[in-house]
Amino acid sequence: MNELDTLVESATQLFAQSATPADLENAKAQFLGKSGRVTELMKGMAQLSVDEKKSRGAAINVAKQAIEAALTARRQALADAELQVQLKAEALDVSLPGRQRGQGGLHPVSLTFERIEGIFGSMGFDVAQGPEIETDWFNFTALNTPEDHPARSMHDTFYVEGGTPEAPNLLRTHTSPMQIRHAVQHVKKHRAALDAGQSMPEVRVIAPGRTYRVDSDATHSPMFHQCEGLWIGENVSFKDLKVIFTAFCRTFFESDDLVLRFRPSFFPFTEPSAEIDIQFQTGPLAGRWLEVAGSGQVHPNVVRNMGLDPEKYIGFAFGMGMDRLTMLRYGVNDLRLFFDGDIRFLSQFQ
Ligand code: PHE
Repeated sequence: MNELDTLVESATQLFAQSATPADLENAKAQFLGKSGRVTELMKGMAQLSVDEKKSRGAAINVAKQAIEAALTARRQALADAELQVQLKAEALDVSLPGRQRGQGGLHPVSLTFERIEGIFGSMGFDVAQGPEIETDWFNFTALNTPEDHPARSMHDTFYVEGGTPEAPNLLRTHTSPMQIRHAVQHVKKHRAALDAGQSMPEVRVIAPGRTYRVDSDATHSPMFHQCEGLWIGENVSFKDLKVIFTAFCRTFFESDDLVLRFRPSFFPFTEPSAEIDIQFQTGPLAGRWLEVAGSGQVHPNVVRNMGLDPEKYIGFAFGMGMDRLTMLRYGVNDLRLFFDGDIRFLSQFQ
């Protein structure tokens, strides 16, 4: 190997060892710079004869071009490598699932609200809403509840500020005050017809909503949900209650062989009164009687407080526990799950 080949070889090696473009430029200067080794060789030709200059010059040029080619190749290699690093750093994994917007959904008890409104709506019932802060009159007195009834005690009822000792305000303990509120409005609307001795359209309404009692354990929450039902007309009987409520339960639970039992009970605002129990014939709850509602024929005193003549108007009412209906429908065993706000529980209903 002659001296020029060795020069090319060492330049190529030094270029290869240059890890960055700056290193490479320094290496280049050592060979091709003003005082680089190739330049020195050129200068060294000064004393040579013309012929020698020709052949020596040509040989040096070949070596110079080889070094320049090596330089260019190394520059390209370094640029490629840099591009690769950059591409890797900015890599997009298009197969990764994107960050999705969380999809909201209705609370299971809200799903029950919707279901109940749909079913009773299809049977010609209106849906009414009313205040959660009630007066003692609508919650108790108008519903024929005696002054000394235990439900009025502070152990059972949340009393709130803003009332008077004679007419305290409270958080409604049931949706039954809506019986009075809605019927009074209805009667007001048809007052003229009634005064003229004509009849009015029947009152047919459900009133779902929040209710409150001083109570808290695995099956009781201080805030819970009820749905009131009321049907008042000139010829509405207990049989209608049975038919309506049976149809409702069978539709709600999608169970045609579901059986109902009306168990005698007591409420101040109905007479006679009954607890309604249901029994599934299949599934995990089959054979057990499960209480779902209180009900009864509306008491004459209550009909009177609606502004109607109890000799002419009669009907039934029921109040069902919406949380309980939801638990039965979805097989939930702890009421508190509904109020904990745990997304792992709630997302199962979407
Ligand atoms: N209000 C009663 C309760 O909360 C239920 C009920 C409503 C009973 C209507 C009879 C008629 O237990």
